[in-house]
Amino acid sequence: MKKKDTHNFSSKLLQWYDLHGRKDLPWQQSINAYRVWVSEIMLQQTQVNTVTPYYLRFMHRFANVDALAAASTDEVMHHWSGLGYYSRARNLHATALRIRDEFSSQFPNDIDLLQSLPGIGRSTAGAICAIAFNSPCAILDGNVKRVLARHNNIDGWPGKSSVAKQLWQIAEQHTPTQRNRDYTQAIMDLGATICTRSKPRCNDCPVMKTCIACAEQTMHELPGKKPKKVLPEKSAKLLLIENSDGEILLFKKPPTGVWGGLWSLPDELEIDAAMQLDMHSTWPMLRHTFSHYHFDITPVHCKLSRFTGTMDGANQLWYNISMPPNIGIAAPIKKLLQQYANEKSTAP
Ligand code: ADE
Repeated sequence: MKKKDTHNFSSKLLQWYDLHGRKDLPWQQSINAYRVWVSEIMLQQTQVNTVTPYYLRFMHRFANVDALAAASTDEVMHHWSGLGYYSRARNLHATALRIRDEFSSQFPNDIDLLQSLPGIGRSTAGAICAIAFNSPCAILDGNVKRVLARHNNIDGWPGKSSVAKQLWQIAEQHTPTQRNRDYTQAIMDLGATICTRSKPRCNDCPVMKTCIACAEQTMHELPGKKPKKVLPEKSAKLLLIENSDGEILLFKKPPTGVWGGLWSLPDELEIDAAMQLDMHSTWPMLRHTFSHYHFDITPVHCKLSRFTGTMDGANQLWYNISMPPNIGIAAPIKKLLQQYANEKSTAP
């Protein structure tokens, strides 16, 4: 990217900011590093409208970093309660103590030192430097990722390090040496009000002319979504053991774990030596997907030829298809029992 292009980007955004940017947010008044820091932490996972009343109450009670450091953790948590993500509040208190004790209550204007403090990542450190000190540091929060991914047509999920690396590089290139406080607020405001996730208002955008996503109409695909996780696969042979009355043996699952308390077919490993089985047929594999793994079931239909043991009445039963008891059965197991019933009714 040429220097002129990046200068053009930031000056277009600054012109737009002067006319349309937000200038009345509470943390934009009486700016100092403490006030900016608290606002940035609150805004990390939470919308401006939700944050505002919390921020005002917090500032009323803890007007500066010494007031926050001197408070008890309980009181800090109390002022956070309802905002969620409570590790943010614990980190906030820990950082207040460090600023008081290690930095004589003065926030450092140094992005690396700021990043070494609890709860302050690269983007939050950049925001504190940019907004509190007007230093030429870049930020890359969710809104900025969206703006830059679209403007440069950067594909892929920004949580992926190669994508993040490209976006950070562009963010750094665009960061102006003058008026970076306003530029930083401008690019966040652009993301929040114009370059929105679902209905971007490209015609009102100050950088529409240079936006590749707008030219190629790819803005709805950008930024890329988090890829669906590849789930591990587990497999088991589950036995449909049929007795001489045509009933099927069910086992009750222990109360914890998947299918806890439901009835299921026994795993081949659960069958004791007292049962003599004749294998009848192996059925096609059936996949059941839990939130955290795929479970591939190979059903094996067997006939009980001899049983010399005793049943555990509380955890085992013979399931009569035509007189089903009122018990909970896992969905894929129900399906297999239904399949067995269908076969029985068509075959002699
Ligand atoms: N989100 C994160 N920082 C913000 C700020 N300074 N203003 C508005 N929204 C924000």
